[in-house]
Amino acid sequence: MSGTQLPVDVYVRLSDEKYVCLAKRGSHHNLKELSVFRGSQIQYLHVEKDQFNRYVNTNLIIAGIAVKRPKLANRHKALFLSKATSSAMTAIDGLDLTQETYETAKTVAECTMTLIENRFDFKALLDSLTAQDGHYLNHSLAVSMVSVMVGKKMGWTKQITLEKLALGGLLHDVGMKAIPKEIRDKPRSSMTSEEIQLWETHPFKGMEMLRTIPGVPDDVVACVYEHHENAFGQGFPRRIRDLRLNPLGRVVSIANCFVELCVQSANNSSPMSADRAVQYIENVMGQPFNKQVFRALNFLVDDQQSLAS
Ligand SMILES: [Fe+2]
Ligand SMILES: [Fe+2]
Repeated sequence: MSGTQLPVDVYVRLSDEKYVCLAKRGSHHNLKELSVFRGSQIQYLHVEKDQFNRYVNTNLIIAGIAVKRPKLANRHKALFLSKATSSAMTAIDGLDLTQETYETAKTVAECTMTLIENRFDFKALLDSLTAQDGHYLNHSLAVSMVSVMVGKKMGWTKQITLEKLALGGLLHDVGMKAIPKEIRDKPRSSMTSEEIQLWETHPFKGMEMLRTIPGVPDDVVACVYEHHENAFGQGFPRRIRDLRLNPLGRVVSIANCFVELCVQSANNSSPMSADRAVQYIENVMGQPFNKQVFRALNFLVDDQQSLAS
């Protein structure tokens, strides 16, 4: 935004080893100056690695202010939040999952909660997310939001529980970081069986990463570890059945499946509408999730439809 102080030095890249500083940290920047390269071959502006967290924090502060503004339209709030999420997840993905980047994920989860406190049309949300690039990041934010909404439909009201759901949903695929990029970007249908085996380790890898960070709640770790399990015991990596699954993990796993069906990604070039996705889970997949959780998703989608009409 024009007129604000830049939190970081901003560079353009001329070649692999040559960068030119476009604007200095602390200067009051002018959007026109920074947009001057738009339309040329230069697609990105660059930030030094050790300044990246400062950039993420600024985005989070802006998103935090935006989601609390009563007069700002929800789709604009979602856009600010998705940009902030994208930078926070890029930090986790490109730098590391550390105490500091974990804290930024927590802030994203808090902003998500604030956004969802209002009556929220998730069709608009899904559309605003689909319109942008970065499927993996949008996927995480969408799973976080849908998880909280399903949790609320389950009748869960405690703020702490809903925050854990928001954070578990946001971080559920964090273990993908350990999967080679060429595999994770591939549609599952074109993976070899060895690649699928490797890909299926991501919930375990995610659990291991979170275990290295002090203070991560067990429920959040369970959401990450169990998001590909299902009630029939036919999921992965542990094939555990409904009774043994964490209640929050059950919600994140249905939200993950639902978002995969409804949001465009490498695995899904023609996303379904929300009600079609619910029918698909029931009729084609044989409804493999916990019954109450599925019912809550069903109510949520019905509600959304009456909101739209
Ligand atoms: Fe996953
Ligand atoms: Fe996922």
